[in-house]
Parts: sequence; structure tokens; C-alpha cells
Amino acid sequence: MTQDEMKKAAGWAALEYVQEDTIVGVGTGSTVNHFIDALATMKDSIKGAVSSSEASTEKLLAYGIEVFDLNSVSDLSVYVDGADEINEQNHMIKGGGAALTREKIIAAVADQFICIVDNTKEVPVLGNFPLPVEVIPMARSYVARELVKLGGDPVYREGVVTDNGNVILDVHNMKIVDPVKMERDINAIVGVVTNGLFAARGANEVIIGTPEGAKKR
Ligand code: A5P
Repeated sequence: MTQDEMKKAAGWAALEYVQEDTIVGVGTGSTVNHFIDALATMKDSIKGAVSSSEASTEKLLAYGIEVFDLNSVSDLSVYVDGADEINEQNHMIKGGGAALTREKIIAAVADQFICIVDNTKEVPVLGNFPLPVEVIPMARSYVARELVKLGGDPVYREGVVTDNGNVILDVHNMKIVDPVKMERDINAIVGVVTNGLFAARGANEVIIGTPEGAKKR
């Protein structure tokens, strides 16, 4: 099975968490794209979706799935999204696609975060994947210096502007042994909008695409 086939297996397996007559939280990325394909088979029995990126919104709308503004939604039972790395405690690094802020907001609203990944994303310690940090543009150099003090090597993701008009620093060479503390410490730097650690609010359920098909943790 290819990596994309494993992503597809995880994406389609997440359909069992979608309840009829609800609005579904939809993340961003190639694994989520498979979930959107699956969700389209239920489009007449759900109310619609909230989306974490312009890219996912476009795909949802192309299927005829209504996309709601999160501010008009008070009840979101599930949010389905991928991850760049996930550890055994269901803490994740996200933001490879630069959509981390909207992803974190929707994850905060949802009752359940369902993480869909292929098995290459499972790691014992987070940090091999460079940690994305969304930053207000004028604070970029200051935040980079503060991230160095936390032990990382930040690299400006040139040419990328987030959906919120900000920039991304990817922090390399971090061995994140305490993700909850690191998430808090980075959030405390002035000028940081969001960091890609999803630890204080990790995943409730994890579906892993493997060569033998989708498996739940
Ligand atoms: C988007 O910003 C990320 O958080 C994605 O969830 C992550 O990059 C996973 O992407 P793939 O499903 O494409 O691997």
C-alpha cells in the first residue's frame, strides 16, 4: 500500500464519527482531502461543514457541501483533521500546510478531535518535523530570537502568507519531551499568534492508515 492509500484508508474510516443532521469540522491537507471525498457521500444527510482553510472550503463547496462561518455555529460534535507528527499521548505537531491557527480554533470548539494519519506520522518524541509557528509579520525577528532561547532553530517559510495575513517560522532541531509546556512557552512570546503543538488539546481519537487498512488506537 502506498502512503496515499494509507491516508485514504484513514480518511474514509473517519466517516463513522459523522452524525446525521450535524455540522462537521473539516481540517486541511492531503489526508483530509480523502475525508472530504468520503463526506461527500453523506452530503444530503449533514447540515454542512466548517473549514480550516480556503483550500478545504473550495473542495467542500465543489461537492455542494455548505460551509458555515464558525461564528454562526454553537455546536460542533466532531473535527476531523490530519497531523504532521503524533506521539503516543495523542499530542501532535500540525501546520505543515500553514493552516494551524484556524485548525486550533476549530479544534477548541469541537467536542471531539478525530486525528487521521498514515503510520509514517507516528513518533516517540515530537520535533523531528519542524514546528510551525504563526507570527505577526513585524515580530518575526524578535520571535525567532526567543525561539532560539527555547532551543530551536527557526527558519522563515519564505513566500508563505497564512490565510490570516501572517508569516510562518518553522522551528528545527527541537526534541519536544514536554509538549504541553512547550506549547505554553511558545504561546507566551509576544507576536506569536499560534504554534503548531496541539498538546493541551490533543486528539480524542486517532485513526491510523496502515498497510493492513485503517486502525484505531
Ligand atoms: C495543515 O496545516 C496541517 O496541520 C495538516 O493537518 C498536516 O500538514 C497533515 O497534512 P497531510 O494530511 O497532507 O499529511
